[in-house]
Amino acid sequence: MTDAQKRVFEGGPSALIVQSGKDPLDFTSLFGKTGSVFVEIGFGMGDATLDIAALNPQACYLGIEVHRPGIGRLVMEAERRGIGNVRVAEGDALEILEDRIRPGCLEGIHLFFPDPWPKKRHHKRRIVQAGFAALVASRLADGSGYFHMATDWEEYAREALAVFEGERRLRNAHGGFAPRPEWRPMTKFERRAREQGRSIFDLHFLKS
Ligand SMILES: C[S@@+](CC[C@H](N)C(=O)[O-])C[C@H]1O[C@@H](n2cnc3c(N)ncnc32)[C@H](O)[C@@H]1O
Repeated sequence: MTDAQKRVFEGGPSALIVQSGKDPLDFTSLFGKTGSVFVEIGFGMGDATLDIAALNPQACYLGIEVHRPGIGRLVMEAERRGIGNVRVAEGDALEILEDRIRPGCLEGIHLFFPDPWPKKRHHKRRIVQAGFAALVASRLADGSGYFHMATDWEEYAREALAVFEGERRLRNAHGGFAPRPEWRPMTKFERRAREQGRSIFDLHFLKS
């Protein structure tokens, strides 16, 4: 963590960081306004989160991350760029979705380049599992909510496709992989994957 990123956690946490707790969040008081709420799971250094939030100032974006340097960077950059519609929850996305987000209240959940855990014996550590798909489905708004995932790991992409197709409350918007949406920002992570010759796989599911 840089000294600047450390300062985000010292001397009283930034107003952009969600206070820890177990109770469901009140989005109107958290964001200081009403608006559709989108969650990004595992935002890394926050580049995609910040760009999407800056382009959609009417909406509200909650990033969830366990990695403190990334949280520090996102908060610093949001403050520097004057992006007021982003908040950050520190911790495990599964716990935060379960405990702090009420069912049916999210318009979108983004999962960009989750850790692929390539070794077979580590596949159980992957975030995409049947229980995760059920949790995602439960938190999305009926009839309008969507889940979008991108990964550069083909085998994980195919496994995720099967997992989400097995969740009866979600339907695949494209019948297979989705085209790369224009709204998903090109991050350093994706650029590097492309430079190394890896394809990118997008998945887009809608809540029925
Ligand atoms: C491969 S990185 C991708 C980061 C970013 N989405 C990107 O596209 O550059 C995966 C990120 O997910 C975070 N992560 C992994 N498991 C998580 C969990 N259970 N809850 C929240 N964040 C998680 C990691 O800390 C890491 O920053």
